[in-house]
Amino acid sequence: MIVLGIESSAHTLGVGVVENGRILANEKEMYQIGDSGILPAKAADLHAGNIGNVVSRALSNAKCTINELDAVGYTKGPGLGPCLRVGQLAAMTIAKENDVPLVPVNHAVAHIEVTRHFAKAKDPLVLYVSGGNSQVLGLVNSGFKHYHIYGETFDIGVGNMLDGFARAAKLNPAWGSSVEKLAVGGHYINMPYSVKGMDFTFTGLLTHSIKALNGNDKKDVAYSIQETAFAMLCEATERALLLNRKKDLLLSGGVAQSKRLSGMLDIMAKSHGVRFHVAQNQYNADNGAMIAVVAEKILRSGIVNHDYSIDQKYRIDSVEIGW
Ligand code: FE2
Repeated sequence: MIVLGIESSAHTLGVGVVENGRILANEKEMYQIGDSGILPAKAADLHAGNIGNVVSRALSNAKCTINELDAVGYTKGPGLGPCLRVGQLAAMTIAKENDVPLVPVNHAVAHIEVTRHFAKAKDPLVLYVSGGNSQVLGLVNSGFKHYHIYGETFDIGVGNMLDGFARAAKLNPAWGSSVEKLAVGGHYINMPYSVKGMDFTFTGLLTHSIKALNGNDKKDVAYSIQETAFAMLCEATERALLLNRKKDLLLSGGVAQSKRLSGMLDIMAKSHGVRFHVAQNQYNADNGAMIAVVAEKILRSGIVNHDYSIDQKYRIDSVEIGW
């Protein structure tokens, strides 16, 4: 079975091709975030202008033609409406032209499941960290098998917090990866730390860090915001890990690209005899391959969903994991 997946929930337009669980292609184009963050209409325009090319590149890398596709997956949500719409319409068009199934995919499920796919972990605890989301999750079977949220951010995602700090500190590009680079060799200054059980908040830390840019070395502030945020995520994850007695820990989502966060979680997991897994960076960042992988799993599991809409607030705990 050959499946094409289209991801367009935010600033990345990604197209992936998978054949029987093997990723054949993973192509993308990215909207460059300026000082004002992502402008949804502009990002959507760029995606619309690039979709033809990115699909062609993915098919060419996968060495297959559009007629050989057995299904097309797209990101239903969560995400930015105008951006989601581009992927949805492109996927609908390709599926209709080829008379093959169209498969709506939850973006968060795709991030987690592509990591679980590589890790071959049956029942992991998951820390899912991206721009808009930060959640601690695990599979439960109450009524239907789904990802239960044990803990999550009460306000903003850790990725948006780091991006917001990067913009305030005038880093270029204004992303979390620039904060991580700048933080190397920094010294700790006191920061607000906010974990409540398995939940956490980040806006207080962001506000404090932006204020701390006045009168402190930028490097020290970058180091301190990052260490504090990641320590909070580690504490909440460790609590969930011990409560649920899982044997595998997955880190997924865009912020999983952070070597520092991976390193901290790896040490914590090992101290409890738990295996730690993180995917290669191209599968942690938003990408089309993760949509293709999950679309194929959905089709093979026999779950049929004829609701081909988009849903900007599509919750992960409403999605049945039928595999
Ligand atoms: Fe994402």
